[in-house]
Amino acid sequence: MSDILAVLNIIKWGLRGMFRAKFVFVSVSASFLFLCPAGAFHSPKEDQLGTDRTDYVGDASCQKCHGDVDQNYEHTPHRLTSQLPTSISVLGSFQSGANSLIIVDSTQTAEPGLQFHMESRKDGLFEIARSGWGSHVYQRAERIDLVTGSGVRGQTYLYWQGDRLFELPVSYWSDGHRWINSPGYIDGTADFSRPVNPACLECHATYIQALSTDPATNRYDRRSLVPGILCESCHGPGANHVRQELRHETKKKEPSILNPAKFSRDLQVDLCAECHNGIQREALKPAFSYVSGQPLNEYFKPLPTPEVEHPDVHGNQVGLLQRSKCYRSSKQMSCSTCHDVHTTGQSLESYSLKCLSCHTWQSCGMSRKMGHEIMNKCIDCHMPIEETNVIVSQTAGQVVHAKMRNHWIKVYPDLSMPGNGGKSLRL
Ligand code: HEC
Ligand code: HEC
Ligand code: HEC
Ligand code: HEC
Ligand code: HEC
Ligand code: HEC
Ligand code: HEC
Repeated sequence: MSDILAVLNIIKWGLRGMFRAKFVFVSVSASFLFLCPAGAFHSPKEDQLGTDRTDYVGDASCQKCHGDVDQNYEHTPHRLTSQLPTSISVLGSFQSGANSLIIVDSTQTAEPGLQFHMESRKDGLFEIARSGWGSHVYQRAERIDLVTGSGVRGQTYLYWQGDRLFELPVSYWSDGHRWINSPGYIDGTADFSRPVNPACLECHATYIQALSTDPATNRYDRRSLVPGILCESCHGPGANHVRQELRHETKKKEPSILNPAKFSRDLQVDLCAECHNGIQREALKPAFSYVSGQPLNEYFKPLPTPEVEHPDVHGNQVGLLQRSKCYRSSKQMSCSTCHDVHTTGQSLESYSLKCLSCHTWQSCGMSRKMGHEIMNKCIDCHMPIEETNVIVSQTAGQVVHAKMRNHWIKVYPDLSMPGNGGKSLRL
């Protein structure tokens, strides 16, 4: 059962699950059967528990010499994907009138009259659940101790109970700037019991020391938490590099820090795949052991699931891109062909220009109809925005579909009409 909980826990966000008060797995049996094979996770050996962090120096150190990179990086979703709670980092509203989630659907409410209120108190920002009437009032308040998600789509909040980390029942959904039931939570319940396992933070933070090798554990050394994805998450430990650069040791043989631009294409993509190849995988080593430049298949093994054949548009950009002819035939296409992870705010037009580093606009049959205005529209038709119907999210009777870019670059015949480009495609 703990396996099931662990899997449900990592399903929730970004990868497959999006916000919902109620959610419907359209392919319920498929989803659950492949997620919960007996022993899907096996515990790594005890002696592998501690990953040595002594050579990690933190971003403040890189900032001294790479200030320009750091200045841009500070505002990226990677950097902000987990943060300590402040009135700025928590995007949900604590203003009276906008600080509640009233569960409307009372017919199916397990706890009658359930309401959530978000309150700013002297000792922090709290989520408070209240249910019942008269003398039978249940109330529970927990403080937001950690914020996950930069807020592109939303945020989920976590709290500590001793050394155990749990998820809070109410999350924030950016579209509409509102509070909603946390992903994976059953409508009408005040559930404070969902544990947060290391896999979750491995994708959303730089480090935390788990107190057990069980992949389903939620016990941690709280002081070891390093929130956000920092420079060294992708560049490896920096102590040696900083020491050498400070001493101006110019005649070094080996580069003193990892630069993914110098990796093989496969290893470059493996770095991104650590967090962008979906969750249908078994961890072979403890969380946070992967260092970029290593082959990822020594750390994770894909699980034999229907999703490996037909990856979902959520969270599996690697699986989808790797199906594209551009990727297979070009040998040099990687995530960095289009993305610079050190900055934000790239325009859609600029992505289309990346296509033109390998194709001419005339190579597209549609160019005869559209002329050169096709130049900045390649993405619209060949990497459409898609809504998933694997998981449907419903809050207060409203259905919320998550929309993602499909990274399988190919011809989508339904998008052959100029003008239709960019419209959402329902698969
Ligand atoms: C004392 C100054 C200094 C500090 C501190 C510093 N760097 Fe550098 N870094 C440099 C210089 C100078 C170069 C260019 C050296 C070269 O081209 O060989 C460089 C190069 C790099 C490269 C490219 C290496 C390559 O092989 O192409 C990366 C990546 C890098 N730094 C990341 C970092 C990170 C991450 C940190 C923080 C952990 C950091 N640096 C801290 C000065 C510094
Ligand atoms: C395998 C890596 C991975 C795991 C495990 C994972 N996530 Fe995510 N998460 C992502 C990625 C990647 C995205 C970005 C959206 C996408 O590509 O689907 C994301 C998106 C999110 C978002 C929305 C962020 C935004 O700005 O809109 C939240 C909130 C979130 N995840 C919370 C969690 C929580 C809480 C857990 C664990 C209980 C978790 N995630 C587990 C990789 C992961
Ligand atoms: C999400 C992963 C990731 C993070 C986080 C990250 N980088 Fe990078 N970095 C890369 C990749 C990938 C490349 C190679 C880009 C390419 O192929 O051109 C790179 C290249 C570099 C280079 C070499 C640039 C060059 O022109 O060769 C420097 C310097 C650098 N990063 C510094 C930093 C600093 C400083 C931080 C933190 C503020 C940081 N990076 C955070 C992934 C990352
Ligand atoms: C340690 C885990 C991790 C690694 C490694 C990682 N990502 Fe991400 N990435 C995430 C998470 C989590 C999010 C969602 C951030 C959010 O909004 O909270 C994300 C978001 C993104 C986004 C959307 C937001 C944006 O910045 O525009 C892009 C693009 C992206 N990643 C590309 C990459 C590429 C390219 C690489 C490899 C060079 C990479 N990522 C490596 C975890 C990771
Ligand atoms: C790194 C080079 C490179 C980049 C960048 C690139 N492609 Fe390609 N693409 C290729 C190669 C090589 C092929 C295979 C050509 C062939 O087989 O004749 C291809 C094939 C295609 C095909 C045919 C796919 C199929 O399944 O038949 C389409 C459509 C396409 N590219 C569109 C794009 C678009 C749109 C972009 C930008 C989003 C893009 N490409 C970016 C190299 C690239
Ligand atoms: C041919 C260009 C191209 C390549 C290559 C590419 N991406 Fe993207 N990616 C895009 C575009 C375009 C968007 C949508 C940007 C936007 O909406 O602002 C996007 C968005 C994303 C997002 C945000 C989620 C979403 O759907 O909006 C993530 C995460 C991401 N890419 C990760 C990756 C990773 C990881 C790789 C490598 C496996 C990769 N991308 C390779 C073009 C590319
Ligand atoms: C309005 C939608 C639309 C836009 C915009 C668009 N394409 Fe296409 N593209 C298509 C369709 C449909 C096909 C297949 C039919 C055809 O070739 O006439 C196609 C075919 C292609 C092919 C050939 C695939 C094959 O048959 O091998 C390539 C390469 C390509 N597009 C690249 C691009 C590039 C690069 C851009 C941006 C400059 C672009 N497309 C913009 C819809 C579009």
